[in-house]
Amino acid sequence: MVCIATALIEFRAAISPGEWRKFCGEIRKHPLVSFLHEDPFTSYGFRKPRGYPGDAVLLDFIYGQGASPAAVSAATPLGSSLYRECIQHVSFEAIRDRRDNIANQLLELGKARGRTKILSVACGHLREGHALLSAAQSERPRSFVAVDQDPVTLANVSAEHRGIGVRTVCATVLDLIHSGPKFGSFDFIYSAGLYDYLSDSVSFRLLSSLTQMLRPGGRLLIANMAPDLSSVGYIEAIMDWWLEFRTATQLGNLAKRLITDSPRLTARVSARTFVAYLEIEFSASTEV
Ligand SMILES: C[S@@+](CC[C@H](N)C(=O)[O-])C[C@H]1O[C@@H](n2cnc3c(N)ncnc32)[C@H](O)[C@@H]1O
Repeated sequence: MVCIATALIEFRAAISPGEWRKFCGEIRKHPLVSFLHEDPFTSYGFRKPRGYPGDAVLLDFIYGQGASPAAVSAATPLGSSLYRECIQHVSFEAIRDRRDNIANQLLELGKARGRTKILSVACGHLREGHALLSAAQSERPRSFVAVDQDPVTLANVSAEHRGIGVRTVCATVLDLIHSGPKFGSFDFIYSAGLYDYLSDSVSFRLLSSLTQMLRPGGRLLIANMAPDLSSVGYIEAIMDWWLEFRTATQLGNLAKRLITDSPRLTARVSARTFVAYLEIEFSASTEV
């Protein structure tokens, strides 16, 4: 499987985007692809049972959580061995690192600032939130709002995160753009796995709305998959799963106009394996 992923990424780099799209349509007719689809992760990503790509159930295959262990047990021997290879792939590790990075930031925020107000945008199954169960009561969020467009996903969050008092809100990116302040104001707003599906213009409008929901001293964190993702050929060709990749610099460029217009905002970008991060802080001081 790793060999296939490597061959695909090399081929993708060698041809034009248009030729690659055409090739992806053709390759899926190859008999080998039906064997690859015995892997329950690959098959789920390709089928998109919720009608949109990259839902929380798919992410659970990467985290090894939720319904994924049962789906792997029910797979063919070939399917489960392909999955075991997938789950060790460095690109899977990068997404688990993204979850763990945000979990650590939630814990550190509680330690540094006590009981804060948090907003998770496109929360999925909120797997990073489990870390808060180990936090002292005085370091747990004062309020935690989890927004997603998918009501089934949110029902799962309500059931699994009672311990940290999460309030779920079913809303879309457009709802956040048009009525952001109605959702409240927050010390920490974060979004992972959403900007991967948004155009630059929608990304900018959402960024602008989210920064207006920050409390003084608050921080916004956006994670975006980076274009060097080593499984990109596999996910596009075999799973028909397409993302909007951005480098840290490209993410930073989205924020430039906001920073210029608002002296109390500062931005910083960083990168970890295959994931770019943008952080925007809203200064607590009005004297900037
Ligand atoms: C790839 S998952 C990421 C979930 C979670 N943040 C994580 O890191 O595991 C993307 C999530 O974004 C949500 N989503 C996608 N498009 C959305 C939109 N336009 N408005 C609100 N939520 C959206 C999906 O329902 C899904 O739960």
